[in-house]
Amino acid sequence: MKGLVGKMGIICMTACFIAVGANSAVAQEQGQQKQTSPKLHKELVIKRGVRPEATKCIECHSKKTPGIIDSWKLGKMAHAAVSCYDCHVVEKSSPMASQCSGLKGTNIYISPMVSSKTCSRCHPQEVEQFLKSGHAKLASAPVVDNKKMINLIYNLEGGGFIGNKHGNSSNWASREAGCQMCHGGQVELGPDHKPVKNTWPGGVGTRYPDGSIGTCTVCHTRHQFSVTEARKPEACASCHLGPDHPDIEIYIESKHGQIFSTHGEDWEWDSAPDAWQPGDYTAPTCATCHMSGIGDLTTTHNINERLKWDLVHKKSVIRSGERGDGEKGAKLMRQVCANCHGPTQITKEINTLDDAVALYNMYWDGAVKMKKELAAKGLLGKDPWKDGFQELMYYLWHHTGRRARQGAAMNGPDYAHWHGFFQVFQVYKDLQQIYDWRMKNNRIEDLSTVMSSGPL
Ligand code: HEC
Ligand code: HEC
Ligand code: HEC
Ligand code: HEC
Ligand code: HEC
Ligand code: HEC
Ligand code: HEC
Ligand code: HEC
Repeated sequence: MKGLVGKMGIICMTACFIAVGANSAVAQEQGQQKQTSPKLHKELVIKRGVRPEATKCIECHSKKTPGIIDSWKLGKMAHAAVSCYDCHVVEKSSPMASQCSGLKGTNIYISPMVSSKTCSRCHPQEVEQFLKSGHAKLASAPVVDNKKMINLIYNLEGGGFIGNKHGNSSNWASREAGCQMCHGGQVELGPDHKPVKNTWPGGVGTRYPDGSIGTCTVCHTRHQFSVTEARKPEACASCHLGPDHPDIEIYIESKHGQIFSTHGEDWEWDSAPDAWQPGDYTAPTCATCHMSGIGDLTTTHNINERLKWDLVHKKSVIRSGERGDGEKGAKLMRQVCANCHGPTQITKEINTLDDAVALYNMYWDGAVKMKKELAAKGLLGKDPWKDGFQELMYYLWHHTGRRARQGAAMNGPDYAHWHGFFQVFQVYKDLQQIYDWRMKNNRIEDLSTVMSSGPL
């Protein structure tokens, strides 16, 4: 409930100008408020003053972009009179400053780009937590900083190796339609201060031209900014799915997901922050375990805070440094479970994950050992994507191995087993066979034995 009093202050102070400007659902609601406390309403109008420019945005945009106004009206921030003006108006000196046709000739500058920095004016705590998480700078690092990934995006997937030059916009297709929409990239600007090279909009870790990072709307989408929406597993599913991190699939097959699918419609989704507790729901969603306040835990926008293991990279290690504090994370996650489970089951589940990690790491270490021996004898192909051993090794950690680990972490037995360890052992046997063959024949086989679709 932190800061709610402060927020309420803003609500009352700003409520008025919407009522003046827009003949809308918002206006009607303010009307009702007026009946109960007309005096307070009037006083606060004088304090803050009506900003006619803000009313103008709403009036004109309700004709020009009615869809945006309709969503915005449904959100709590509209009811608190946080408007287009508060989020989109920037200083003339901002690198992102431009004017829409409705603002030409005025001294008001806007940007269609809105980063977490704008939200931090009113939600500093959420933004501070978010910026410490893997959803911020680390998320866009593969698209912006990581040379290997940049090679993958443009030279391999973008067809660079078949002659598609980087200047051709089709060379960016994989980035702009894929990675960027989940991870976020670096927004580049043209002379009119608008994005170029289709570098905007983007995913969670988008880097903006003023140096700010993060798109808050990936979970509570614009322009409703609904907490209800963010609490539902669908909010995460647009990114956390597929062969390499099937978190939504795992969740839906888990008992928790089963209960959500059966009873979720009857749950209370709209409780105040930190007041959303068991009883409002009968099983956790992604948000419950990774973000929401529950019991003594308060809400966090740092999704790394409650994690012990790194289940995404080649070898799973306990989190440290920029990836979080794994020892502390394990305790916090245990606290989440303890709201609904007893210690015997929780300990079993934690041991299950530790065992799955140990088993997977054993496979990975074995593969690394074989790879080193092959390398020492010059038996690794230069191009890893034409070399069966290296291709399979990629699938071992990136697809099957992640599914096994994440399936075990979140109670998805089918992913832990059939899409996970069952395939881990098969891929490993193939690796062994290629290794044996190369060691015996002292050469690399002529054709890669791996199908391009991989062992999915
Ligand atoms: C609470 C802040 C907030 C408010 C209020 C707000 N917006 Fe936005 N708006 C955003 C964010 C965040 C984005 C996404 C920006 C990004 O990804 O960089 C956005 C994107 C947009 C875009 C560009 C995306 C598109 O779909 O074309 C338009 C246009 C826009 N808003 C118009 C409006 C209008 C008109 C209003 C007033 C009804 C408004 N916004 C109110 C935060 C806000
Ligand atoms: C008189 C009408 C009018 C007014 C007033 C107006 N706009 Fe616009 N706005 C438009 C139109 C029309 C567009 C579509 C693009 C264009 O014509 O520039 C637009 C586009 C936008 C965009 C998207 C720009 C893009 O590049 O995609 C944003 C953001 C925006 N307006 C915000 C605002 C804000 C904030 C205000 C108030 C400070 C405002 N507008 C006032 C008519 C208006
Ligand atoms: C000018 C101040 C201001 C700015 C800027 C602002 N907010 Fe808010 N926001 C508020 C206030 C006030 C509330 C409380 C509304 C209420 O509880 O009725 C709120 C509530 C919210 C909520 C909770 C909604 C719910 O359903 O309970 C979310 C989510 C949110 N804001 C996200 C954002 C994001 C994302 C941005 C940046 C794009 C942003 N806000 C920018 C003032 C602001
Ligand atoms: C559908 C959304 C989506 C797309 C598309 C996507 N990723 Fe990811 N990526 C994710 C998610 C979600 C994770 C985190 C998985 C986890 O933590 O288990 C991730 C993790 C990663 C990681 C490991 C995290 C790290 O910081 O080291 C890298 C590297 C990566 N992705 C690169 C890429 C590249 C490069 C592309 C495009 C060629 C891409 N991804 C496309 C969603 C996506
Ligand atoms: C990974 C998804 C996700 C992202 C990204 C995200 N949020 Fe949230 N947000 C949530 C969830 C889930 C809740 C509801 C927590 C709960 O159950 O109370 C929430 C709640 C909120 C609230 C309501 C008050 C509170 O703290 O619970 C505000 C304000 C808010 N978010 C602002 C932001 C801002 C600002 C950003 C960008 C820095 C952001 N959010 C990014 C998922 C997200
Ligand atoms: C727009 C895409 C997107 C959405 C929506 C999204 N995530 Fe993520 N998430 C990512 C990416 C990309 C990464 C990889 C970050 C990195 O590179 O370390 C990630 C990583 C994570 C991680 C691991 C953090 C780390 O550093 O290893 C967790 C946990 C996570 N997300 C939980 C969630 C939850 C819970 C939700 C929904 C409430 C959610 N995410 C919504 C894209 C998204
Ligand atoms: C019952 C609680 C629970 C629910 C529900 C849940 N998770 Fe998890 N999640 C966990 C636990 C526990 C771990 C492993 C933590 C650790 O490292 O010890 C985990 C790990 C993860 C990771 C791997 C982080 C890494 O190391 O890369 C991601 C990503 C993730 N969860 C996303 C999600 C998403 C998305 C959803 C919903 C579709 C979800 N989780 C639902 C408890 C949960
Ligand atoms: C909001 C309550 C709630 C929270 C929080 C919660 N669970 Fe559950 N969990 C349940 C319910 C209810 C079931 C269904 C029990 C059944 O199958 O009859 C369940 C089932 C399970 C199951 C399936 C096995 C079984 O008992 O049927 C596992 C495994 C599990 N939970 C692990 C966890 C772990 C680990 C955490 C913490 C990371 C956690 N849960 C957090 C409510 C919760």
